Formats: sequence, structure tokens, C-alpha cells
Amino acid sequence: MAFLTNLILLPLLLLATFSPTPSVCYVSPSAGRVHQSATQTSAYRTYIVLVQPPPSGADGEGHRRWYETFLPSSKIGESGEPRLLHSYTEVFSGFTAKLTESELDAVAKKPGFVRAFPDRTLQLMTTHTPEFLGLRNGTGLWSDAGYGKGVIVGLLDTGIYASHPSFDDHGVPPPPSKWKGSCKAVRCNNKLIGAKSLVGDDNSYDYDGHGTHTSSTAAGNFVAGASDQGVGTGTASGIAPGAHIAMYKVCTKKGCKESMIVAGMDAAIKDGVDVLSLSLGSFTSVSFNNDPIAIGAFSAISKGIIVVCAAGNRGPTPQLITNDAPWLLTVAAGSVDRRFDAGVHLGNGKRIDGEALTQVTKPTSKPYPLLYSEQHRFCQNEDHGSVAGKVIVCQSTTPTTRYSDIERLMVAGAAGVVLFNNEAAGYTIALRDFKARVVQVTYADGITIADYAKSALNDAVATFTYNNTVLGVRPSPVVASFSSRGPSSISLGVLKPDILAPGLNILAAWPGPSFKIISGTSMATPHVSGVAALIKSLHPDWSPAAIKSAILTTSDAVNNIGTSILNERHGKASAYDRGAGHVNPAKAADPGLVYDLGMTDYAGYICWLFGDEGLVTIVRKSSLSCAKLPKVKDVQLNYPTLTVSLTSMPFTVTRTVTNVGPADSTYAAKVDSPSSMTVHVSPETLVFSKVGEKRTFNVTVICQGVGASEMFVEGSLSWVSKKHVVRSPIVAIRGAGGPTPAPLP
Ligand SMILES: *[C@@H]1O[C@H](CO)[C@@H](O)[C@H](O)[C@H]1NC(C)=O
Ligand SMILES: *[C@@H]1O[C@H](CO)[C@@H](O)[C@H](O)[C@H]1NC(C)=O
Ligand SMILES: *[C@@H]1O[C@H](CO)[C@@H](O)[C@H](O)[C@H]1NC(C)=O
Repeated sequence: MAFLTNLILLPLLLLATFSPTPSVCYVSPSAGRVHQSATQTSAYRTYIVLVQPPPSGADGEGHRRWYETFLPSSKIGESGEPRLLHSYTEVFSGFTAKLTESELDAVAKKPGFVRAFPDRTLQLMTTHTPEFLGLRNGTGLWSDAGYGKGVIVGLLDTGIYASHPSFDDHGVPPPPSKWKGSCKAVRCNNKLIGAKSLVGDDNSYDYDGHGTHTSSTAAGNFVAGASDQGVGTGTASGIAPGAHIAMYKVCTKKGCKESMIVAGMDAAIKDGVDVLSLSLGSFTSVSFNNDPIAIGAFSAISKGIIVVCAAGNRGPTPQLITNDAPWLLTVAAGSVDRRFDAGVHLGNGKRIDGEALTQVTKPTSKPYPLLYSEQHRFCQNEDHGSVAGKVIVCQSTTPTTRYSDIERLMVAGAAGVVLFNNEAAGYTIALRDFKARVVQVTYADGITIADYAKSALNDAVATFTYNNTVLGVRPSPVVASFSSRGPSSISLGVLKPDILAPGLNILAAWPGPSFKIISGTSMATPHVSGVAALIKSLHPDWSPAAIKSAILTTSDAVNNIGTSILNERHGKASAYDRGAGHVNPAKAADPGLVYDLGMTDYAGYICWLFGDEGLVTIVRKSSLSCAKLPKVKDVQLNYPTLTVSLTSMPFTVTRTVTNVGPADSTYAAKVDSPSSMTVHVSPETLVFSKVGEKRTFNVTVICQGVGASEMFVEGSLSWVSKKHVVRSPIVAIRGAGGPTPAPLP
């Protein structure tokens, strides 16, 4: 029975101090959303405490009374602040309370205590995207699934701007009778059926915008003529425009407290949501038995709720993925086939395709002098160099260039700025609205422009043209540079992220009422939540694991020019960049076969990874003990993607698929692999005569001639019938597949 001490808080604090990355999983300039309680010098700290369940039959009040038996009877200070801040009943038996360290020691000694965690502050990590994902009005999946009719999408976020036209309820029927939630907002209707604040202000209003954006992406209704200041004009809608929305406000401008996130999950489970969408996460990956989100989400999935989470915005550095527990659906971010054109025409006749959110409607055709110099290399203008009348070419800083830098250049009289990506961002242009003549270009184009400016010196000139929204950009999707990469540092044998979805320059609702273009895995997540809602509407009896399997095995491995999906450097993206592939909603609704997982499978896996201690914390079922459960290695979990050892050969994993397609179906194994990877599938044919029938097969992998510097090689297995292709990536990685949890390579 352990508790975490300051160990976790420290890295968060450091990162919060040095990084202007926001507390939500989107890439935005606004600094300082992450204020870990640096000023919390008082001896009291907030702890999330897990305890054993109260005597059976206890109601909400009974839970509270049981929890209070763990706490000191004294109130805090002269103001008499209560100890108990949140009392949980659904997500787990436990509570949040303010305690001193010595009081916590006393709590930990009481019978029934399980575990305690200090309350951490986490980071919160579209008009065109439904069409890009193949969803069209009146046809196919949208009409089959009734646009997500009858499904409730719960979001844990910053609140909601309830009167936005995206949350109008035209065409949306009343919620199903199982709905038990309440709605406290300026407008509640059949679209917005739930709105609740867990942050203590009793006000679900979205002071940030993030929650309004994610809600409308998942399940916003149709709004004609949406645009961000004239950019990206079209009819906006969420992925499941017929579904209901329930907002649980768990984040403030200071970030999202774990105690509040857990309170939001607790309420959402009680209220009866079908899908939970979390565009937030911790900065560092946390062992699942120490992660209240992973622990809480386990309760949600055991009740049939699918939990969709952002992978984080810490790419392209490997292994910084968050929300990587196997029972979560972890979403990476990619580009869409749309750009907001701004051309840079150089004096030497070259045209560079840039992008700008501030589109100038009547640009001058007069060329501006171009300046690239050490003095302004990162757009700084400390020594007030002569920038007047010139266009400054400068490089974006990590993670994002400050508005104030650009503003200082403009105030000093610059005619404009060509802002080019840093090398790590490569081809990913995460657009920002500088409200000035700023054109953003890729790293490669930036180098071309800088080289020209350096060599042509005083003769260097450029003109700008603007062509607004351009569709059909090729290649797309491309994995966005900021999208966090696998492998998971906790469980190497389960491929993470799971899936790629649109997350770069996404237009969606914003308080105002208006629309705004922002980027992040926060934006990719609700796309997948919307897809899960559509599938749930068609297949209400499918488990969260079956819905995940359907989304993964039907995803696209290729882009819109028919080649492998690329990463931000325009190299071939790996499974650790993009997961199984790019989400394909229409195909996900009809996968043919699914790789299902039940609570016992996960329990066996948790026993393998953490032993009884993990079982008590995460699964919390007194009828289960690790001694009686078959231990399940991560590589043997019935996951819809395959991870094997690169070094121990031959290496065999076993999987079981369930027929959810036509009763009489025959599938043949088809393997795609590089020459260094040999794959045998046994049996090679699966014959089904009933719906719901299961078939088990072995996949044996032998890798040979792999260079010592290569960490992993990748192939794929597809089960192919007349109607379906059920594809799983196969990743062979060093270190996976050991008898005990593997250390990272
Ligand atoms: C799609 O259909 C909905 C109603 O079913 C309608 O409100 C919306 O305007 C339509 N969108 C387009 C782009 O035609
Ligand atoms: C502007 O966009 C339109 C429509 O996408 C396209 O046909 C045209 O070629 C573009 N013009 C330039 C100069 O890029
Ligand atoms: C799969 O492998 C296991 C263990 O190696 C073996 O017992 C089983 O017979 C194999 N099944 C098939 C269908 O090859």
C-alpha cells in the first residue's frame, strides 16, 4: 500500500515553468495554463484516496459517512474548510480530501485504506473533417447510424458555450430513458443534455474555448456558413451530429485537477454516458496503478463505456505518449487535406506555398524587401534593429513563437513576417492567428527563403498572394509533428498510439459564438469519440474493446495518393507515430471480425504487470485474485494490433477473433512484411458459420538481418474475406515479450 510523494509533482512543475504549452492537449500559444500549486506552501495537500467499498447497500450518503471515518474530525483553519472535497461512488470507492502528511499516515493505517495519490494538475492536452473522413449527408454511415442518434457523448473539459449554434437541437430526439444526468447551462436541450461543473464554481460556462471546440467536433449539429474570420467556410458539423452531449467541466484556466477529472468520470458513469472523451492528460506517462485516470477509466469500460483519450502533444520525440493503458483508445493527430493558402513569391521567380490564418483580401503587388539576419533569427527584436518596411524571415521557437515577439516586430514597423517551422516541426504547419501579415511555411521552405534572402542581400524581395481555403492537399493525412509517439514506457507489448485522426488546423465551435482553427491531439480525440458514438448507435451491444477493434482494424494504412502515411519529415510514418492507421468511420461500422477483450482478460494482464497490488487498485473486484487468474503477458493480450519480440525467435502470439459480419464467412490470412520479417499464421484460413462465433490462431514471427541500430521492424496481418479486410500492424521491437514486464530498449 503505497503513496506517491513529491516525485511526480516536481517534473510537472519544471515543465510548467519552462514550457508555454497549454494545459489542454492542443498546440496553442497562451502561456501559463499549468500552474501546479507552486504556492501551496501550507502543510495541507489534496489527496485522492482509494479505500475498500462501504458495507453493501450504502447509498451516496452511506459512502460519504464511510469515507469520513477515515478522516480527522477537525475542520481546517478558522474558516472551517471541510476535509472531504469529493466523494466518489462509481469510478471507485474513494474520496478527495485535504490532509497534512502526518494525517495521511494515520489515514493509511486505518483498515480499508487502499492507496493515496497527491492531486496533480494535468494538461488539457470542423467544417470539413466529416467529409475528409468520408461522411456525407444523407448517405452511408451517417444515415445508417442516424448520425449517432440515441448515443450520449460525455466530455471532460473546460465547460461549454451552450448557446452556440452547434449545440442547437434541430433534428435531435430526446435522450434515452437511461439518462440520469442534469444540465445546468444557459441553454439545455435535446443536443446538450448534460452540463455540470466539478471545479467548484457551479458554472458550466467555457471561459477557455477548448471544451466548446471538442464538444462540437464530437457531436456538434449542422451549422451553415461556419468560418474562422472568413477562412475555411462551409457547413460545420460534428462527427456524430445526431448524438447527445454531456459536458463535465473539470478544467479551469489553471489546468485540470485529477480530483476533478475523477469527479467528472464518477458523475458521467452515474449519469449514463456511452462514450467518454478526454482531451487532456499528464505530461509524463504514469504507471497505470498510480494513474487516477487509468484507474477511473477501468470502471467506465467495465460498465460498457468506451473511453477515448488524447495521446499528448510531446512529439516527435519517441516514448512520451500519455494515456497509454490498453483499455483506453489513444488518439494521435494528423493533417487533413485542407490548407489556408498564402503564397510567397520571391524576387528570383520562385513561389513558395505557405499558409496564413490572417488572409489579406487585397494584397499589394508591390514587392517588400526581405530580411533574414542573426539579429532576428527567432523573430526577436531586442536591439530594435531596422525592420521598418521589411518582411522579416525568422524561425519558430519551440514549442511556439510568442505573440509578443511578432507584435514587437510589427510595432517596430515591419511589413510582415515569414515564420518558418523549426526543424523538428518539419512539414507540420500548426497555424496561429497572429492578427498580422504573417505567412507560415515549412522548415524546408523556410531554409529556401532564408538562403535566398541571405544571398540576394539588399535585392531580396517578396510579394504575397492569398487564395483562402484550398482543398485536396496531397499527401494527406500526414502525422503532425507534435503528436506524441510510442512506444509506451509502461507496457511495451501493447502498441500505442492506437489510431490517427484529424488534429491539425481543425475548425470547430468557439465561444462567441464563432468558430476557431486550433491544433492538437485534443482535436483528434473528439473525432474518434464521434466515430465511437456512430458505431455504438449501430451496435449498442458491442463492448468498448470491440468498438476499438473495429476502429483499428479498418483504419487506412495509405494516404490520398495511395502511398504509406507519412510523418512530419515526410518519411514513412511508423506504427509508433500513427498507430494502426487513419480512422475510417464508414469501414469501422462494419469490420467483419473483432478482437474482443473482457474484464478477466484485463485482470490477468494487470496481474502480470503489477500483481495483486495492481488488481486491488485497478480492478477492485474482491472475487478475483491473481493466484486464480491466468497471467496475461502484454504481447498476449487479445489486442487488435500485434507486438512481438525482435530478438527471441521464433516468437508466437495467439489471438482470438469474433465474427460480427455475415454468418457464413471465410477469411484467409494475408501478410505484408519486409524481407527481414517472416510471418507464419496458423491456421491460414478461418471459417465461420455463425455470428458471434470465435476462432483462435497463432502468429509466429522470425526476424533476420535487422541492423543493430534498428529498434523495430513493422509488417501487417490482414484477414481477408469477400467483403472485409481486417488488418493489424505487426511490430517486432527489441525488449518486448519477456516473461516479466520489459524495461524499455
Ligand atoms: C445535412 O442534413 C441536415 C439535416 O439532416 C441539415 O440540417 C444540414 O444542413 C445538411 N447539411 C448539408 C451540408 O447539406
Ligand atoms: C486558388 O485555388 C483554386 C481553387 O482551389 C485553384 O483552382 C487555383 O489554382 C488556386 N490559385 C493559385 C494561384 O494557387
Ligand atoms: C498455437 O500455439 C500453441 C502453443 O504454441 C499450440 O499449443 C497450439 O496448438 C497452436 N494453435 C494453432 C492453431 O496452431
